[in-house]
Amino acid sequence: VYHLAAYAAEGLSHFIRRYNYQNNLVGSINLINLSVLHEIKCFVFTSSIAVYGANQVPMTEDLTPQPEDPYGISKYAVELDLRAAQHQFGLNHIIFRPHNVYGEHQNIGDKYRNVIGIFMNQILQGKPLTVFGDGEQTRAFSYIDDVAPVVARSVLVPGAYGEVFNVGGDQPYTVNELVRVIGEAFGVTPEMTYLPTRNEVKHAFSAHTKAEACFGAQPAVPLAEGVDRMVEWVRRVGSRQTKDFAGIEVPRGLPAGW
Ligand SMILES: NC(=O)c1ccc[n+]([C@@H]2O[C@H](COP(=O)([O-])OP(=O)(O)OC[C@H]3O[C@@H](n4cnc5c(N)ncnc54)[C@H](O)[C@@H]3O)[C@@H](O)[C@H]2O)c1
Repeated sequence: VYHLAAYAAEGLSHFIRRYNYQNNLVGSINLINLSVLHEIKCFVFTSSIAVYGANQVPMTEDLTPQPEDPYGISKYAVELDLRAAQHQFGLNHIIFRPHNVYGEHQNIGDKYRNVIGIFMNQILQGKPLTVFGDGEQTRAFSYIDDVAPVVARSVLVPGAYGEVFNVGGDQPYTVNELVRVIGEAFGVTPEMTYLPTRNEVKHAFSAHTKAEACFGAQPAVPLAEGVDRMVEWVRRVGSRQTKDFAGIEVPRGLPAGW
């Protein structure tokens, strides 16, 4: 079982707590129950770098997770439940903690998540790029081809069973640097709108030596190249309309623009 379903809007999860836990935690537990009942071979779960919270960087798998938002808490709860299901029922599993994945076919129409898709959609619509805070927060953006194949073939690697792996790009960039890279790919100098800082981890990027040791090192696609590939695709498919999330549960302190 490859379990990638989630509503991965980390920043929004504060304001849709019940929805987050029902979908991302209880939904996952439904799959774990059935996986135990059907005695599946292996349960592959895409957790997230969000489990680390504001931990030391680069984040490594041996750190004690300290998730800071309901999205990260739900991911870590599923990780713990998988461990309990392994212990109790022998459920084999592999956990991946990806981060800031982007690439062709990504959903660029959700204003609550996927900063690269959001920026590209805004450029296509001739709108200014909205940046929370000063844009100096750092993330290591991960091109899809550096993540998906590792997840896909993990079940064929016996040493991966029962383990947790960070997976994705190594090189952190500030959001301001990301804007420059995306602007260059489109051949424009984007207009910017700086919004008040939102509650988020300032620096989040992880080390991948454990995944490299288990699955082999692979050359990562540099940000400029991955962004070029995605821009070529978004130019073909065009912009997307974004919708407000209909079921905000706690509107207090909802960030500007949401
Ligand atoms: N994109 C990232 O940067 C990133 C980073 C870390 C972890 N992840 C995790 O990787 C996984 C895939 O992320 P993505 O960016 O491809 O997300 P995505 O939103 O593009 O895809 C998730 C899919 O899950 C489906 N889904 C959600 N809830 C469901 C439910 N209850 N039942 C059935 N389907 C449901 C959605 O409709 C969507 O098609 C998620 O679990 C996400 O939390 C993503």
